[in-house]
Amino acid sequence: MAEDLVERIVSLCKQRGFVYPSSEIYGGLNAVYDFGPLGVRLRRNIRNRWWRSMVELRDDVDGIETSVLMNPEVWAASGHVQSFTDPLVDCTGACRKRWREDHLAAERTARGKAPDAPGCPECGGPLTAARQFNLMFKTFIGPVEDSAAQIWLRPETAQGMFVNFANVVNSTRRRLPFGIAQQGKAFRNEISPGNFIFRLREFELMEMEYFCKPGSDRELHDYWCQERWRWHTEEMGVRAGNLRLRAHEKHELSHYSTATSDIEYSYPFGWGELEGIADRTDYDLRTHAEHSGRDLSFFDAQTNERFTPFVIEPAVGLERIFITLLVDAYDEEAVRGETRVVLRLHPDVAPVQVAVLPLSKRAELTEPAHRIDHELRAVFATEYDETQSIGRRYRRQDEIGTPLAVTVDFDTLQDDAVTIRERDSMEQVRVPLANLTPALKDQLDASRRRAVARATGSS
Ligand code: GAP
Repeated sequence: MAEDLVERIVSLCKQRGFVYPSSEIYGGLNAVYDFGPLGVRLRRNIRNRWWRSMVELRDDVDGIETSVLMNPEVWAASGHVQSFTDPLVDCTGACRKRWREDHLAAERTARGKAPDAPGCPECGGPLTAARQFNLMFKTFIGPVEDSAAQIWLRPETAQGMFVNFANVVNSTRRRLPFGIAQQGKAFRNEISPGNFIFRLREFELMEMEYFCKPGSDRELHDYWCQERWRWHTEEMGVRAGNLRLRAHEKHELSHYSTATSDIEYSYPFGWGELEGIADRTDYDLRTHAEHSGRDLSFFDAQTNERFTPFVIEPAVGLERIFITLLVDAYDEEAVRGETRVVLRLHPDVAPVQVAVLPLSKRAELTEPAHRIDHELRAVFATEYDETQSIGRRYRRQDEIGTPLAVTVDFDTLQDDAVTIRERDSMEQVRVPLANLTPALKDQLDASRRRAVARATGSS
């Protein structure tokens, strides 16, 4: 299944309304996607759970939102104009494809060739020497399209937090260590995008800059690596057996970092970065202080010292988590001679937690089912569905990862009870309507425990 798993997921996403190619009726736009009704629910769950864990439940982190468009001096100072580049090579043989030089070995391996084979991974043709290609999208501010008006779409949200460092310190009177977090769109003109939504040109970043005293950075880097690993497994339900933590080799480090570790996932197309946790030292604050002439140091009243803080940055793409959850949750099993597709999603990320399904379309069932759905909505993410046979509806809910389905049948009219069906075991229990909400809460708790046990390997 591994080889065509991505294709199966792409088709499920399109069919069920998770992900559509952008501007599809015009042939799409490479590496840009739109998110459908279920995709939006999944995105919001990921985004909200990140925010809850990184900001709301912490004593030491504030959230901000900064703009996509910034003064171009920001990107000159940060080093992005100079160094946010990838080495690009072109095939001059039959296929004329363009590659990232640092991806050539992996691309050859993916095509069953030796990683150090000469020539183009696709056709074996000759390759040009590498040229550096800047990944930032350019645009113009105001009506005149000249170099004085040229600005960039941000390739990371981090710089918005660095340039607001003094504003946040002054308005919150934070002491070190503390963090500034934000979520927002980022744009990168990737040379070799692909693998569905793995590498996009427009995506959403979720980043946190954790400012600390120089010297405490290594320990905090370890702390954040562990904390983010915990989050992906326990809160997103990603199986630890499919993850690894890998420290960057020197030549891989970004221009701003002295140490970076990636949490990587074993995707069907190989190991890939899920999240990066970087020690950015005092690079960004120092360089912005130098370029802007503003003081971005920090005065530590306890020790009477003034210094430029170091920063640890956990940074992850929302769509990277999205594809990881789908790949990790996708399962096929044989049930009564048929293949059942199930997304074994953690119940807190599943787009729908409780489906409400009347057994038939007759008003005597649809009316109470609608009422039940409306009541449950206050507590759970629900979906009402009365189309097709009950078997097909269960099948659809399994495919979109809904942990629980409530079925309203003709007996309900007599016994004031409904059936709860559980996604993974397909077990059904009859529950009085008066107990439905607590029963669903209990079942979701059990489902959470199973998701964590599955993710951490403790089941
Ligand atoms: N501020 C640090 C930074 O941006 P990065 O490693 O370039 O670091 C952070 O990106 C995370 O953003 C990655 O770990 C990945 O999850 C996600 N990401 C990066 N480029 C992406 C792309 N082209 N499409 C989707 N997600 C991307």
